[in-house]
Amino acid sequence: MLAKTTIFVIASLAIRGSAKTVSHDRSMSVNRLLSSSQPLSNDQLLSTSQSLSTEQLSSTIQPLSTDQLLSSSELLSTSQPLSTGRHVSSSQPVSTDQLLSASQPLSTSQPVSTNQPVPSNASLAQLISHCTVNNTVALTFDDGPYLYLENITDILSAANVTGTFFFNGNNYDCIYNPDEMQRVQYAYDHGHQVASHTWSHKNLAKMNRSRISSEMAGVELALQRIVGVVPAFTRPPYGDYNELVQRIAYKRNQTLVLWDFDSGDSMGATAAESKSSYAKLIATHPSTILALNHEVYKTTVDQILPFAISKLQAAGYNLVSLAECLNMPAYNSQGTRGTPDPTWHC
Ligand SMILES: *[C@@H]1O[C@H](CO)[C@@H](O)[C@H](O)[C@H]1NC(C)=O
Ligand SMILES: *[C@@H]1O[C@H](CO)[C@@H](O)[C@H](O)[C@H]1NC(C)=O
Ligand SMILES: *[C@@H]1O[C@H](CO)[C@@H](O)[C@H](O)[C@H]1NC(C)=O
Ligand SMILES: *[C@@H]1O[C@H](CO)[C@@H](O)[C@H](O)[C@H]1NC(C)=O
Ligand SMILES: *[C@@H]1O[C@H](CO)[C@@H](O)[C@H](O)[C@H]1NC(C)=O
Ligand SMILES: *[C@@H]1O[C@H](CO)[C@@H](O)[C@H](O)[C@H]1NC(C)=O
Repeated sequence: MLAKTTIFVIASLAIRGSAKTVSHDRSMSVNRLLSSSQPLSNDQLLSTSQSLSTEQLSSTIQPLSTDQLLSSSELLSTSQPLSTGRHVSSSQPVSTDQLLSASQPLSTSQPVSTNQPVPSNASLAQLISHCTVNNTVALTFDDGPYLYLENITDILSAANVTGTFFFNGNNYDCIYNPDEMQRVQYAYDHGHQVASHTWSHKNLAKMNRSRISSEMAGVELALQRIVGVVPAFTRPPYGDYNELVQRIAYKRNQTLVLWDFDSGDSMGATAAESKSSYAKLIATHPSTILALNHEVYKTTVDQILPFAISKLQAAGYNLVSLAECLNMPAYNSQGTRGTPDPTWHC
């Protein structure tokens, strides 16, 4: 019963959001969304999936759990043609029963049938491994938020360096733990870039459509709640992705980010080995560097980071955010942060 209500609430919100965003198309209805035999356009999908603003969420009668929100966002972000028109023959309001029966096909991950057009590269998320602005370095930090985030922020800020954090929702700790929320805000408020490393740090290339989408949606929602921004960049855990991941990322307006230098800190390298890797790299003086580090190791923070910053700056590089090293926007939207409530949980 709760699930039915949730779907109804989310669908209603989606319609409100669409009507607001797509002002020339006020007639957008559940009926049309569900009965369309065409895949929804990206604009429709994006405006729908991004319509769950904090204000809208907080205005709903029933608090929605993170799980419920995630499962709803799967429904809304599906790219499968929606073949449920026969179930939904009335115009709105649509009953929860209709939505529930309609939701079944929406959450399937059936392989794309052969008579569907093969997606062109134009509908695949961009994949980035290198900075593009000459003489820049982006220092990036995965797997937080965690214990050392404030110290990393302080070290970066003291050196006039902007870093980029790829956060998980629930990996070393739950992002909704008050300590972690405060750390995320601390890094963001000091001007560092925040981005998504997906919810649970699992391999996206081994997941079905709905799970990939919910892994992405969870962190996008958390960052929108905690600091008010929807990130523009996602780093797939382990750097693993496939075409389905790229397609879903594209629909979510996410650019996928890898790296071109790995400090090795998560691969068992000692601090001395990581420093040596940085030194060797800098000696070759590439025009740009997109460096992978992990914020969850004390040696990365206390030893590797200060070393890397001083050597990179001595070599004349500008140590900037990922967005700056690419000359791209850091965020898909920026607004106000939310107020924690019981639905903010892992
Ligand atoms: C997708 O994967 C998740 C988790 O592995 C599973 O619970 C769910 O049933 C799958 N969905 C479909 C439609 O196969
Ligand atoms: C699409 O991308 C694939 C893999 O990156 C590439 O081999 C292919 O040439 C691209 N096709 C077009 C039309 O750009
Ligand atoms: C890149 O920047 C470096 C350092 O400022 C400079 O020496 C070099 O000429 C630049 N290269 C290009 C292609 O602009
Ligand atoms: C942060 O840095 C301070 C000062 O160097 C140090 O005392 C503290 O232990 C560090 N915190 C963590 C969690 O490592
Ligand atoms: C800080 O870094 C920015 C960007 O790299 C640079 O423009 C600025 O001059 C730096 N400021 C100081 C005080 O070093
Ligand atoms: C997609 O992201 C870009 C910036 O990353 C933003 O300018 C644009 O508005 C976003 N599109 C939608 C539909 O949210």
